[in-house]
Amino acid sequence: MAIKTILTEPNNILRQVSKPVEIVGNDEKQLMKDMLETMYDANGIGLAAIQIGVPKRIIVMDISKDNEEKNPMYFVNPVIKNKDNQRTTYEEGCLSVPNQFAEIDRPSKCEVEYLDFNGEKKVLKAEGLLATCIQHEMDHLEGILFIDYLSKLKKSMIIKKLSKNKSSRIVV
Ligand code: NI
Repeated sequence: MAIKTILTEPNNILRQVSKPVEIVGNDEKQLMKDMLETMYDANGIGLAAIQIGVPKRIIVMDISKDNEEKNPMYFVNPVIKNKDNQRTTYEEGCLSVPNQFAEIDRPSKCEVEYLDFNGEKKVLKAEGLLATCIQHEMDHLEGILFIDYLSKLKKSMIIKKLSKNKSSRIVV
């Protein structure tokens, strides 16, 4: 397994639409393992493949609490089947939008069809944090970031801040 570099906004790669996976083979399994390790290392609860520069429709998540056993989840080619009319708000952050947080509202429940780590077809009925997290991650597959839901002004302020941080970063 290997820890990969997580791309951060602004970066055009993050805006790509990811492509469906044809077969969950060894390459995809290795990718999922690397993604999980990268996500744990960054203290995240979800990561999409595009965040490490791979435009495949693959997501890993683990929303277990610190004092609970790890519970990795793998989603290949996820599709939302049902969304609740009711909405719920969480303060969201993103490993690709470092140190920025904003309240985002999304459908409070959803049903997701996907392939698991072994390529088997599964259905997830999600609510609460799980529902929000999977919807946030699925947005990444379409090149959408949570800051896209904010006002133009708020979004541009965040991007400006992130760009500034990037240009003042040196590696020696
Ligand atoms: Ni994210």
